[in-house]
Amino acid sequence: MATLKLKDFRKSFGKVEVIKGVDLEIGHGEFVVFVGPSGCGKSTLLRMISGLEDITSGTLEIDGRVMNDLPPKDREVAMVFQTYAIFPHMTVRENMAFGLTIARASKQEKQQKVAEAARILQMEHLLDRHPSQLSGGQRQRVAIGRAIVRNPKVFLFDEPLSNLDAALRMDMRMEIGKLHEQLDATMVYVTHDQVEAMTLADKIVVLKDGRVMQVGTPMDLYHDPGNLFVAGFLGAPSMNFLQVDVQTVEGDDAKVGNAALKPINVAHKDRLNGSGKAILGVRPQHVEAAAPGEGMLLGTVEFAERLGSETVVDMVLKDDSKFIAAFNEDKVFEPGQTVDLVFDPAQAHLFAPSDEVETVH
Ligand SMILES: Nc1ncnc2c1ncn2[C@@H]1O[C@H](COP(=O)(O)OP(=O)(O)OP(=O)(O)O)[C@@H](O)[C@H]1O
Ligand SMILES: [Mg+2]
Repeated sequence: MATLKLKDFRKSFGKVEVIKGVDLEIGHGEFVVFVGPSGCGKSTLLRMISGLEDITSGTLEIDGRVMNDLPPKDREVAMVFQTYAIFPHMTVRENMAFGLTIARASKQEKQQKVAEAARILQMEHLLDRHPSQLSGGQRQRVAIGRAIVRNPKVFLFDEPLSNLDAALRMDMRMEIGKLHEQLDATMVYVTHDQVEAMTLADKIVVLKDGRVMQVGTPMDLYHDPGNLFVAGFLGAPSMNFLQVDVQTVEGDDAKVGNAALKPINVAHKDRLNGSGKAILGVRPQHVEAAAPGEGMLLGTVEFAERLGSETVVDMVLKDDSKFIAAFNEDKVFEPGQTVDLVFDPAQAHLFAPSDEVETVH
């Protein structure tokens, strides 16, 4: 277990700055998940923490100690990659012990630590196999085992499950959650998978273009996104954004268009400047079909996806903007059909049009 502190963390490759001043504090035993679009700097941040990549400026502290100039092996961090990075010619046992062999650990220490990791990962019966005789999930467990035997202060995971099929991902996701509980370890985890982020994280860090857009618990970010980017990034399908005219804002209530949509969650009232153009965010799951003529919006169906438990309908509104509704039942919709839609304003979010700025909680 360890605390981790990143202070004004920056990284440039040549003249291009890709990490643009990240400040972050991670507590003892916390599970922190980095999410953000491809190329936003998630892997670079992990590699800077692990020591695989230099820190251009800023400081990295682990347990209060500045680590910037220490080589990877002395930082007491262990990284698990997307590709398993295990050696095909070695057995599971040898692969798991690899870091200890390099560190010239005694035979007894190796045996004891590998046995312990194998027990935690339920791999005792596989120790003498070679990687080619293992499933994808088992191979990834070997890579995790190799990290465990090093007894690191911090585990760094870079999309460890993204090469696995859906069912295996779910199993492994639960195993990683259990592992975190058992080891009580500080973990930093990068993923593209929203379910992994929402279920595993104590704290999610949303990144964009090398900057932190928001930090918070999964539910904080989902229910109270601090800006348009976070609102659109978390949640599937993505939140709908409607252009609206705000007539008045009083307290936490806003009057929008002709309908008095209140109460609405006004994110950052100060940025709304009272009345004027704004963006109303409505999650697809918060939309319901109404009786004809009684909707707040009228959508024309483009196509519908029936998932059994849910029906996701892509529509266009009168002003030609796209709108997605997710109804939590199996329903048939025909292309061209119009649907009256309602939503509870209390579950909607109002943003200033340029509200993409960072909001660090
Ligand atoms: N060695 C390098 N030299 C130059 N540019 C690099 C190097 N490594 C990464 N970059 C650039 O830095 C930016 C961040 O890359 P990074 O790999 O951290 O993104 P990421 O968030 O992990 O993306 P993904 O989700 O696709 O894995 C990208 O624009 C990338 O092209
Ligand atoms: Mg990456």
